[in-house]
Amino acid sequence: MYNQWRDCQEWQKQGLPLSTTNNETAKLYDAVLCQYVGWYDEDAVGGIEASAKKLVESDPNFVLGHVLVNGLDVMGTGRSIYLDAEFKTDIDNIVKLAENSNVSSREKLHAEAIKLWAYGDITKAQDKWEEVLVQYPTDMLALKFAHDSYFYMGYSAQIRDSIARVMPHWKKDTPLYGYLMGMHAFGLVETNLYDQAEKEARLGLDLNKNDAWSTHSLAHVFEMMGRQDEGTSFMSSTKDNWTKCGMLACHNYWHWALYLLEKGEQSAALEIFDSEVGQRVKSGALLDIVDSCSLLYRMEMEGVNVGERWKDVYEICKPHIGEHILCFNDIHLLMSTLGSKQKEEANRMMESIHTFINEKTGTQRQLAQEVGAVICNAFQAYDSGNFAEAVELFLPIRYQVWKIGGSNAQRDLFNLFLINAALKSPEKKHHQLARSLLIERKALKECAPMTDRLIGRAMALHVD
Ligand SMILES: [Fe+2]
Repeated sequence: MYNQWRDCQEWQKQGLPLSTTNNETAKLYDAVLCQYVGWYDEDAVGGIEASAKKLVESDPNFVLGHVLVNGLDVMGTGRSIYLDAEFKTDIDNIVKLAENSNVSSREKLHAEAIKLWAYGDITKAQDKWEEVLVQYPTDMLALKFAHDSYFYMGYSAQIRDSIARVMPHWKKDTPLYGYLMGMHAFGLVETNLYDQAEKEARLGLDLNKNDAWSTHSLAHVFEMMGRQDEGTSFMSSTKDNWTKCGMLACHNYWHWALYLLEKGEQSAALEIFDSEVGQRVKSGALLDIVDSCSLLYRMEMEGVNVGERWKDVYEICKPHIGEHILCFNDIHLLMSTLGSKQKEEANRMMESIHTFINEKTGTQRQLAQEVGAVICNAFQAYDSGNFAEAVELFLPIRYQVWKIGGSNAQRDLFNLFLINAALKSPEKKHHQLARSLLIERKALKECAPMTDRLIGRAMALHVD
């Protein structure tokens, strides 16, 4: 992996001057940025956490160091200024540091963006990063923060276009150039441009076989095109490359398990949960948490007996249940309360979501009110065996689900949820609905054994 960290002079030469004069700080800034973009821990600098700590300590006045380090927490979606006084102090400190006279306009924009996100205004934060990128198209920090934030908002076209418009400004020897391919490929796959996405992801992997985000984009291509056999063999044959990137490995295993589940290889999917996803969730990272919840929920919808597995996952979810940082997270956290039969905890979580809606401001509060709470209610209804109610709650908002963010593959859980609820509902009109939804599903992805199995179930129901 790349480890020729840039010093102050090198950053200056590349048109991205830093306000620190400390070369060690400049190099650590690069090291942390590289690990963030590459989803890996670099042993030479003690991994991302240790190097982030050293970065801030080496020059406590370097504003972009604080932006990067706190930005990692912001993007990790596991800390909130409303619940974590220390985090709020750190964010407010960035704003103060940005007032120093040696801080550049680019660094000031970064400081404003992180503050906006932390205070809940995600779209305004994105505008700031794009403002940076118009002037500084090779600023990977702005590019990656924008990329991740578009993902959290479900802004597929922006994921794609944000990368496309800076690409001509990058030279092949610019550090981190190769990662642009996987990032662009992800935007392409999320906007259904599968062939172009595959080409870009493979280019990224040709440049760096350890680029786990390119691997991930290609995994999405296989998922969306119904190429499950290619998916399993690709994930298996390249495992040693992408598992080096520990921050994304759990999610890539999740993709692998999806192919297996689709193919009806339920014990193999369960095996991936037991040996990888269910182990890696112990990291406590929200991405790993939502993957664990998503996989267990999908397996249960497929009729797999997951035994006591929800209990361990719920314990890891527990500290985040009152946070309400992202609607997407909340819905998955609720799944863990339902899966582990903690009905009272589920009710408490719903009360907490309503308090959040009534008392807070920002993008996610709005989303929770319009979509998140409704989805959670539908999941509760389904869990209580009120399948008709689950359908009636979910159906009117099904075309709004993209707003909760995540990928098409992640949100497919909700398509499956509605189909399963309609199949289980006692109402004949819901059985007819299930058939319609399955025709729609089959039209989008021809090779889909799971859809075929669901069609078999739907045809066995009497609709006349
Ligand atoms: Fe994914």
